[in-house]
Amino acid sequence: MFFSSSGSESNDTNVRMVRRYWDLLGQPQRKVIIGRLNGYHGSTMAGASLGGMSGMHAQGDLPIPDITHIGQPYFFENALPGESEDAFGLRAAGWLETKILELGADKVAAFIAEPVQGAGGVIIPPATYWPEIQRIVDKHGILLIADEVICAFGRLGHWFAYEKFGIRPDLVTFAKGVTSGYIPLGGVMVGDRVAKVLIEQGGEFNHGYTYSGHPVACAVALANIELIERENLVGRVRDDTGPYLAERFAELNDHPLVAVAETCGFVAGLVLVKDKATRATFDPDLGVGMMCRAHCFKNGLIMRAVGDRMIIAPPLVMTRAQIDEMMALIHTCLDATLAQLRAAGQHA
Ligand SMILES: Cc1ncc(COP(=O)(O)O)c(C=O)c1O
Repeated sequence: MFFSSSGSESNDTNVRMVRRYWDLLGQPQRKVIIGRLNGYHGSTMAGASLGGMSGMHAQGDLPIPDITHIGQPYFFENALPGESEDAFGLRAAGWLETKILELGADKVAAFIAEPVQGAGGVIIPPATYWPEIQRIVDKHGILLIADEVICAFGRLGHWFAYEKFGIRPDLVTFAKGVTSGYIPLGGVMVGDRVAKVLIEQGGEFNHGYTYSGHPVACAVALANIELIERENLVGRVRDDTGPYLAERFAELNDHPLVAVAETCGFVAGLVLVKDKATRATFDPDLGVGMMCRAHCFKNGLIMRAVGDRMIIAPPLVMTRAQIDEMMALIHTCLDATLAQLRAAGQHA
């Protein structure tokens, strides 16, 4: 375990750690880290570079050298006509192998990704995606970094998302949920493959932050984890409230403004569309997502907009009754958005 105070710092740690690992193994040319377009890994130079957000790259001359990106497994936007979700998942994972072969496997240090992309719009990959990614990184001997800053500590109904998706990351970034956000703490869980080399062959790893392993932050994390255990929040999200949210959220697929409403544990996303039958999207300049978000905030609902994709990450303590209350608010806000669009002649 290597502690820091945030997700961004932890991903900076990852960059140094994987490059140090390959140096120690006599392969210093293995430097390139592959991330994904629209991924989010933080706001530091390395974090924003690993992330694939063009708006962030445009400020500060990013990405830094030896970081490159592949497409995201976003079925709604990237599937071919008639393509099944499973087939799309395999094809999207294949973009990693194409990139590795293009660069030369002996140049690639690691692949980093969020198990479910959070800030990029709660992009939930098809079931075939992660097993295929694991197969590809194994085949080419590349390190796998799971950035679980959002996904860990019960968010997807498991302590860690890698358990849910059955993958074996070498490094796992965490932050946020470890303290439920009450005090800053983050870090990297370092798997045996990397830890052994760093410890047994590496000597001093010249890396550390003043607040690494800060006792107050760690005490808060322990108290928080104890509470999560006592309240069985992980099991509740996996077996009860998560499936219930999925069931209620699926009802939104009947709303005239919604094309796809989907959840994964306690994250959820829906796409606002101009024409439900054809799935035609709105002109981005209309800012329909932000219009909807304004209705949400006015009605006391925190639902974010990523383009015209609306996303939520409700508190893990939420009960079924509170999910019902939230769903009623979501309906109210979608109806208000639809009324506003119709008044402006933007929806049938
Ligand atoms: C997946 C992911 N990684 C990294 C970060 C960056 O964490 P921080 O803001 O604590 O630096 C975030 C923040 O939202 C995140 O969602």
